[in-house]
Amino acid sequence: MSKHLNITGCFLFLSFFFQTILSAQNTSIGTKDIVSGEVWKDTDGNVINAHGGGILFNNGKYYWFGEHRPSSGFTTQVGVTCYSSTDLRNWKYEGVALAVSDEVGSDIEKGCIIERPKVIYNQKTGKYVMWFHLELKGRGYGPSRAGVAVSDTPAGPYRFIRSGRVNPGVYPLNMTREEQKLTWNPEDYEWWTPEWREAVNKGMFVKRDLEGDGQMSRDMTLFVDDDGTAYHIYSSEENLTLHIAELSDDYLSHTGKYIRIFPGGHNEAPAIFKKDGTYWMIASGCTGWEPNEARLMTASSILGEWSQLPNPCVGKDAKITFGGQSTYILPLKDGGYMFMADVWRPKSLSDSRYIWLPVRFNGKGIPFIEWVDKW
Ligand code: GAL
Repeated sequence: MSKHLNITGCFLFLSFFFQTILSAQNTSIGTKDIVSGEVWKDTDGNVINAHGGGILFNNGKYYWFGEHRPSSGFTTQVGVTCYSSTDLRNWKYEGVALAVSDEVGSDIEKGCIIERPKVIYNQKTGKYVMWFHLELKGRGYGPSRAGVAVSDTPAGPYRFIRSGRVNPGVYPLNMTREEQKLTWNPEDYEWWTPEWREAVNKGMFVKRDLEGDGQMSRDMTLFVDDDGTAYHIYSSEENLTLHIAELSDDYLSHTGKYIRIFPGGHNEAPAIFKKDGTYWMIASGCTGWEPNEARLMTASSILGEWSQLPNPCVGKDAKITFGGQSTYILPLKDGGYMFMADVWRPKSLSDSRYIWLPVRFNGKGIPFIEWVDKW
């Protein structure tokens, strides 16, 4: 009898032991800590699939939107996923916020590419608005469109409205009259030569696309300023130049007011925040899925002038952004900010990881990011 009890006790102990280990693995984002680079699971125990994303804070809850990435290939098979949390550590799967369409020829037909979705809340309309980078099915990265979708509730489902290039026929605010009058034939220029650089600086690609469908829009983010005005910030001009474009009052279209910053700077993956009246933007260089050195930019007015500062990352692997690429900077309830980046794994994109680190500020108030194992 006592032997039987011992065996039962031993069994109970072992099963408790393994369950504890298993549940610890299930929550490797940590019920207590954020551990960057690990596999992060949602509260159902499934791996979180929300890449190139951003977070909306709404009514006491964080909503994380991101690209659902397949385990092989790179086109979008599912859409934009949403997870919610009250503590940024335990994430509940809310489902597919924007689903790809089964309709042949739809802009968001299954097999298109949806990247870098961001959601903002519009106080005036009470609607949640999602913008994302869209490439039409079977067209590679050529179309370079921005897509917009809307919902009455934060987690969705979102209704796709339209996609397209940005601000056709409109010159950026900071292109001079002289520059606007110039004409170029981009085919005549060899990339990266001094003549080509000068033409890019003066707006060769702006002019080409202004007369066509509008400005190219790839990697992107959104920002809502204190006065409620929202901005769409995207890599344009063949990924060479960032644009900052004002959105309409309902956030569903562009007003035509936009600037280009750092022409030829090759900035991607823009992430922005504002602290004490100063705007800070972190971006990456253009090396596809490979990590590179981040860039820091700042301005006292969102529509410029912007100036560039050195790499904001410090310490080991700072030169490759700790293996990640920026995607979003989240203001935290305690007044701090969280830098969010993706560690891409192109062999199996669904296995790409997340790096979330605190943004710190030096004595001069300039932001920097240092690796922390957990926080
Ligand atoms: C990266 C970009 C990603 C994705 C990828 C495709 O440079 O930041 O969003 O577009 O290229 O190769």
